[in-house]
Amino acid sequence: MDDMLFDGVEITDDILMELAKELLPRSYAPYSNVNVGAALLTKGGKVYFGCNVENASYGATVCAERVAIFTAIAQGDTDFEAMAITGIKNGDLGEPFFPCGMCLQVMKEFCDDDFKIIVEKGMENESYTLKELLPKGFSL
Ligand code: THU
Repeated sequence: MDDMLFDGVEITDDILMELAKELLPRSYAPYSNVNVGAALLTKGGKVYFGCNVENASYGATVCAERVAIFTAIAQGDTDFEAMAITGIKNGDLGEPFFPCGMCLQVMKEFCDDDFKIIVEKGMENESYTLKELLPKGFSL
């Protein structure tokens, strides 16, 4: 999936989540067998993608959320609206995958308090603001 521009089309939470799922086959997770996909919507209607990329030196692993954000930054996009996150753990799709603390801290660097984080709950999606998930984050 290359980044996509949706001009004049409303990207609903459901659409963003479906796009995030497209990334699951690209997840490189031979150590945890946890596959994560992320779709990041910019305020300009562009969607960037990320998947987790693991490493034999486990600490070198990067989460799907940060891959999506860093990809967007590298393309010159810095205004973010929302991110959908999906994952498969033990073969189960539909469990909520909340961003880890490190990814929330990276979101705090680039996103507003009302940045929307969409996760799955069974067959439904639910959303939270960055402020809800990281009420007292670190900043300089
Ligand atoms: N992972 C993510 O991609 N995003 C998160 O927010 C939490 C964890 C990945 C990292 C690792 O490849 C696997 O899930 C298990 O921790």
